[in-house]
Amino acid sequence: MKCAAFRHVCLLLAVSGLAAVSQAENLAPVRERLLFDSGWRFHFGDAADPAKDFGYGSGNDLQKVGGYGDGTDPTKAVSVTGMGSLKFDDAGWQAVSLPHDWAVALPFDPQGGKSQGFKPLGRLFPATSIGWYRRVFPVSAGDLGRRIVIEFDGVYRDAQVWLNGCLLGRNESGYDGFRFDLTDYLNYGTDNVLVVRVDATQSEGWFYEGAGIYRHVWLVKTGPLHVAPDGVQVLTDIHAEAAGVTASIGLMNDSDSTATCRMESIIVDAAGHEIARNTSGPFTLTPRQETVQTQRLSVTAPRLWSLESPLLYKLVTTLRRGDAVADVVETPFGFRTIRFDPDQGFFLNDRHVEIKGVCCHQDHAGVGVALPDRLQEFRLERLREIGANAYRSSHNAPTSELLDDCDRLGILVMDENREPGSTPAALDRLARLIRRDRNHPSVIMWSLANEEKYIQATGIGARIGETMKQLAHRLDPSRPVTFAMNGAHGEGFSTVADVEGFNYNEARIDAYHQMHPSQSMIGTETGSAIATRGVYATDKEAGYVADYGGEKVRWGKTAEEWWSFYATRPFLAGGFVWTGFDYRGEPTPYGWPCISSQFGILDTCGFPKDGAYYYRAWWRDEPSIHLAPHWSWPGREGQGIDVRCFSNCEEVELLLNGKSLGRQAMPRYSHLGWKVTYAPGTLVARGYNDGKEVISTRVETAGAPAKIALTSDRVQVRADGEDVAMVTVDIEDAAGRIVPVAGNEVAFTVSANGRILGVGNGDPASHEPDQAVARHVFNGFAQVILQTTGQSGPLVLTARSPGLAAATLTLDAAPANLHSAVPLAL
Ligand code: GAL
Repeated sequence: MKCAAFRHVCLLLAVSGLAAVSQAENLAPVRERLLFDSGWRFHFGDAADPAKDFGYGSGNDLQKVGGYGDGTDPTKAVSVTGMGSLKFDDAGWQAVSLPHDWAVALPFDPQGGKSQGFKPLGRLFPATSIGWYRRVFPVSAGDLGRRIVIEFDGVYRDAQVWLNGCLLGRNESGYDGFRFDLTDYLNYGTDNVLVVRVDATQSEGWFYEGAGIYRHVWLVKTGPLHVAPDGVQVLTDIHAEAAGVTASIGLMNDSDSTATCRMESIIVDAAGHEIARNTSGPFTLTPRQETVQTQRLSVTAPRLWSLESPLLYKLVTTLRRGDAVADVVETPFGFRTIRFDPDQGFFLNDRHVEIKGVCCHQDHAGVGVALPDRLQEFRLERLREIGANAYRSSHNAPTSELLDDCDRLGILVMDENREPGSTPAALDRLARLIRRDRNHPSVIMWSLANEEKYIQATGIGARIGETMKQLAHRLDPSRPVTFAMNGAHGEGFSTVADVEGFNYNEARIDAYHQMHPSQSMIGTETGSAIATRGVYATDKEAGYVADYGGEKVRWGKTAEEWWSFYATRPFLAGGFVWTGFDYRGEPTPYGWPCISSQFGILDTCGFPKDGAYYYRAWWRDEPSIHLAPHWSWPGREGQGIDVRCFSNCEEVELLLNGKSLGRQAMPRYSHLGWKVTYAPGTLVARGYNDGKEVISTRVETAGAPAKIALTSDRVQVRADGEDVAMVTVDIEDAAGRIVPVAGNEVAFTVSANGRILGVGNGDPASHEPDQAVARHVFNGFAQVILQTTGQSGPLVLTARSPGLAAATLTLDAAPANLHSAVPLAL
């Protein structure tokens, strides 16, 4: 049980757990973390004209505190007057729920930035580059005296936030989490107005980045004496029979009186049993004082977190003032050791693990960068199917929810910082990232930068890198840092890296290892081969590249080239292929009409290309076999067709319509190929180990499209307004064979307790809208992201297309508890 609502459940458990404690002690819940995703209103502003931007930038925005609200001062900001007021009428604004990416709903525009996927964002598009968000929410009179903080997990980008007309602050990067303390600015016992202006005019990356409040927002309520945000650090030291735990807890006294407290930490195992406890104190905190207290705990024979068995424990920290509970915080963690060895690569719990990693940007078909939590988990599941055991969040930190998934699924993470720097602001961003993520057992290293071509080789780079590394080690002594370098190995950043990160440049790797024998090495970025799913003839005009495993770009390598290189060098810890999924933008080496990259092992929906089966064969242990291309080539009878087989079997035999075309030995880390004279029918590949057939696969000639088929990743979803079902749409012939070249348009309808969040088909040159109720399939497949509402019951999706038999899919939207969300009205 995991995903969006799992977090809800956790919160509810946590809150009800707290409530139980509190009830016993006759107190209100001491800490609440409430999802703040619903009830928002959205309106475009304008980057060029203050009159169309609610007066922002008229010249007097910053003159008086509260000028965006109800104030009566005549010097207050003119036309924004009232946007932060309860009297402001936002009826004409669009109702939205978070996560929200407004860019994904904009049309494609050839004048838009190619790197960003041809969306109308930037200075040429002032009318679609600024977004205003507004939310009215109640705060009860009983909350007076508590600390109330709002947390934004990520806003793309340059967000300014006002509460009740008062400017709280600004956060520029689209990849940082940030928070504001609302306590002093709230009206208690009535409604409050939060306003956010988001400016997506500038880009931080050379890939699609979306626009808007694209990650969760939370409202956190605590008592004045509380555990600091991201203030808990759990470090473990593992010995033969037992493990030590050092828990460092940041405490804050956000009040004007001295507070004395005791601190109790317990460790609970996955079954909820207490296995260790320590109590310390009393500690005295002067008004507004912050302090860090450390406790030691010991656990006998802990079960280790590993890829096969990703077992988690939880540290539960309770603060007490006298007998009263002041705060309770739960911190999941795992017992595990990591080690990079310069000669032997990477070790988890002293066992060698080859890092079979993928780099990923965060966007997906249908939704852009605003991914429901379950969709992030779905993507990780697709990556695990091809045998990936590691994830690089390029080129920015992932969501916390993705790291929770990796902890739970047993996936290693290279957690990447966006922009390197040693200014106070840049170091603050890095510190926020490390504090947020350092208790996740899945995170094995910090990547401090990627291909910073102007500074990576310089003394400036070395000094910045050293300052960042020192901070990273101070905040987290348990993980190494790397820099994803493209060239300049041995210079600049490279001279301070704990683990040398190679992006491409395989030709320099052996020599570098000889010259730096004591530095561990990893392929921070490898591969870069492009392919279009289901296409078998490159068409540069249309922007399609023949599949079969992919063509490398100038600086890249094919899957087979890079993996056979890395897998045969024990000193390399493994590598991260560019990329796990196709992503919007960067349609290298093409331009318009291509709007997506094609580097993915999987397409933008997560449908596998042929190359996925290369990885599946050599990254997983069990027998695996795949044939390419499909076998539906009307008009090509008698012509030779290139056939490839991806398999890890010792030998493979190919048969056409029952007749053997020969048995060949499979070279390690490679593939087999045949030229087969086409005849309709069935092409079969049989895989043999030790002379025995262990697996087989087939491709069959399909007939004309006759029907639609719908399949879902799950039959039951939570009716919580967040959970999604990932629905595969395919077109089949009368006998149920997928028609691999089908391109029919399919229209969808959904019952009232569901909504279509987005659609996609993996076509890198499609300009169809992502947020629509119809989509053409691309080479046989399309995807529908079906989201629940709060209403339970049968959730029914119907698909229709002229001339085809319709399909209906019925899911069970099961009741889910919604009480963790902030109510929309008093
Ligand atoms: C790398 C870069 C990636 C991506 C990739 C394409 O140099 O780090 O972000 O652009 O090239 O091959």
